[in-house]
Amino acid sequence: MHEAAFYAVEGIDGSGKSGMVAGIVAHLERTGRPTIATREPGGTPQGEKLRALLLAGTDDAWDQQSELLMMTAARVEHVQRVILPALARGTSVVSDRYVGSTIAYQGAGRGMPEDYIRRLHRDAVGDVWPDLVLILDLDPEIGLARSKKRLSADAIDEGRFETLDLDFHHRIRRSYLDQAARDPERHAIVDALGTPEEVRARVIAAIDAWHAH
Ligand code: TYD
Repeated sequence: MHEAAFYAVEGIDGSGKSGMVAGIVAHLERTGRPTIATREPGGTPQGEKLRALLLAGTDDAWDQQSELLMMTAARVEHVQRVILPALARGTSVVSDRYVGSTIAYQGAGRGMPEDYIRRLHRDAVGDVWPDLVLILDLDPEIGLARSKKRLSADAIDEGRFETLDLDFHHRIRRSYLDQAARDPERHAIVDALGTPEEVRARVIAAIDAWHAH
């Protein structure tokens, strides 16, 4: 029996995370690990309602404090009702984004102090951190172009963060690389340039390497 683990997939908008989650779950299940896929903001009925409020509209729809607190509120629901219960029954969890996104977007992106975000996480959510964070690393110019194309092709009203400029997305990318550099044991950086099959193979290799270490 493998011990259940908590995996988070992170990256800039358009890095192809969402498409990777299903591939990761299938790989973990194949290797004998029962696994669920989930996402943030969202992952619970209440969290999905917060997601709709958070991602629609123009950039100035929320004050940055409200944005941070709502992301965190959605995470409290997600951790208490989905992530911890799954891990407790021996099921691994793959989450499309987690607190690394808050450190990157609300911290490096919006400029809120990182120690405040980490303290809020510990106080409100608890000391619950992923065992492994997979960072899909991509040039923001490529990511944003991909992401805008998908949002308009599918008529999805979740583009609030995509309206922000390239410099914002460069700060997000740097924050992820910095988070990985400071805690290399829990992070794997995967080059997200390539076909989905190529990137999936790299992600799976990174997971296998982490399991083997
Ligand atoms: P996501 O659905 O992953 O968008 P995409 O597939 O386009 O990358 O994430 C939604 C947006 O929410 C994304 O722009 C990042 C943002 N976000 C934050 O700003 N803070 C957070 O804590 C989380 C979880 C997401």
